[in-house]
Amino acid sequence: MAIGVFDSGIGGLSVHHALVDRFPQTDFVYLGDQAHAPYGPRAGPEIVELTRAGCGTLFARGCDLVVLACNTASAIALRQLQQDWLPGERTRLGRPVNVLGIIVPTIEAATGVQWEQNPPPRGEKLEQLDVIGVFCTRATAASRVYEIEIDKRRTDVAAFSEPCVSLAGLIESGAPRAELKALVDRHVEALTRRIGRAPDRAILGCTHYEITADLFTDALPPGTPLIHQPGATADALARYLQRRPDYATGGSGLRTFLTTGTPGAQHALAEAFWGAPLSFQAV
Ligand code: DGL
Repeated sequence: MAIGVFDSGIGGLSVHHALVDRFPQTDFVYLGDQAHAPYGPRAGPEIVELTRAGCGTLFARGCDLVVLACNTASAIALRQLQQDWLPGERTRLGRPVNVLGIIVPTIEAATGVQWEQNPPPRGEKLEQLDVIGVFCTRATAASRVYEIEIDKRRTDVAAFSEPCVSLAGLIESGAPRAELKALVDRHVEALTRRIGRAPDRAILGCTHYEITADLFTDALPPGTPLIHQPGATADALARYLQRRPDYATGGSGLRTFLTTGTPGAQHALAEAFWGAPLSFQAV
């Protein structure tokens, strides 16, 4: 069985990279919905429909498991697809297909509380909070998923999201580093002003941002820890596969890269991140 990895574009490569390192023998099919990137500015129903179509393509390519390497799709579409679409799809395909998101592993990594664990009793409101800054797309910020889910689990941790409205689109198009740096600096400043101080930790809550993680490291106060989604997602997938041995992932380490957009080589920023030439095939 191959594992599918889905994103609106090249951002999910950051997660894919960690998965490939963790599961070198597994076959992976990557799909970037580049014809419709970026997702962040789109309306909810559109994000749901595009995510459904992307997962459908990966199931049709033989994947039983799809990792949504996209916060926007995970925040907006995942629950609805799990409830309204996947049960019928399993019957139609006659196999136990599933879709996993990346927000749950990130929240587990940020709070140290596993998803299935009962939230600890709510304590006193603390004077001194551990403040996490979440840099993400507009749709993810509007969903407030990080604020809500972190608050349920930890009263001593507060999340503040900063929508970086045009950043994913600029990374997707391979914009010059100076332009990306100016934008990242502006968003770190804006969040710091809003919180009243710099965050203690940060989540790069859009997989595209991981490609330019060094710009966030430079803009944040020295030593601010980043909670990295790719590693957290690989850990969560390893735990999932232990619980679900029926998703046997034996393979020969085959890597396929698909796009709904223009096939061929990807730009220098994506290739530099990936560390090798990258060529996407048309779906
Ligand atoms: N990389 C995606 C995310 O994690 C989507 C960015 C976008 O398409 O706006 O949110």
